[in-house]
Amino acid sequence: MKRVIVISTSLRRGSNSDMLADKFVEGAIVAGNEVEKISLTGKDIQFCKGCLGCQKLGKCVIKDDVNDIMAKVLEADVVAWATPIYYYEMSGQMKTLIDRMNAMYSQEYKFRNVYLLTTATDDDPETPKRAETGLGGWIACFPESRLAGSLFCGGVSGPRAIEGNAKLQEAFDLGKAI
Ligand SMILES: Cc1cc2nc3c(=O)[nH]c(=O)nc-3n(C[C@H](O)[C@H](O)[C@H](O)COP(=O)(O)O)c2cc1C
Repeated sequence: MKRVIVISTSLRRGSNSDMLADKFVEGAIVAGNEVEKISLTGKDIQFCKGCLGCQKLGKCVIKDDVNDIMAKVLEADVVAWATPIYYYEMSGQMKTLIDRMNAMYSQEYKFRNVYLLTTATDDDPETPKRAETGLGGWIACFPESRLAGSLFCGGVSGPRAIEGNAKLQEAFDLGKAI
């Protein structure tokens, strides 16, 4: 049994990447894991001010929802991120959360396998590459961890456009196999 945290970063109602995240969660639960999904919808996540107070305090000085999310990431064995592709990168809200979890940098962490789930209008397989590279920058700061899987569903634009798409089954299978 692994402790799994899934962070779904799209704020859109009927989000395609959130539906991928739900399928990943379903698969991980079926396989007997303890899974928590966190949606950034409704969360208060401010920008990093770069004060580096976190390196002394072990948490961020800003009082919003980030410290609670970070504590859960530090306790997880597996971390999965779901994001829409925005300008051929991860969403700004995902990057903002990554920056804000800077206190993690100097702390013990358990996660080894990191997964990325992405959706975009463009169906070119290269579409998620910069998001993978961007997340790779975060992963590189936690040398015991690695990008264990990246699942991209292109060709989905409007809300819930992913319904019926075979990538949903792939997300389930990926979650089941963690
Ligand atoms: C600000 C913004 C930027 C986007 N940039 C891209 C892009 O660079 N390439 C692309 O193929 N789709 C782009 N899209 C479309 C989304 O990636 C697509 O609608 C995706 O399915 C949204 O996922 P979601 O429903 O989980 O939010 C963009 C959408 C928005 C709102």
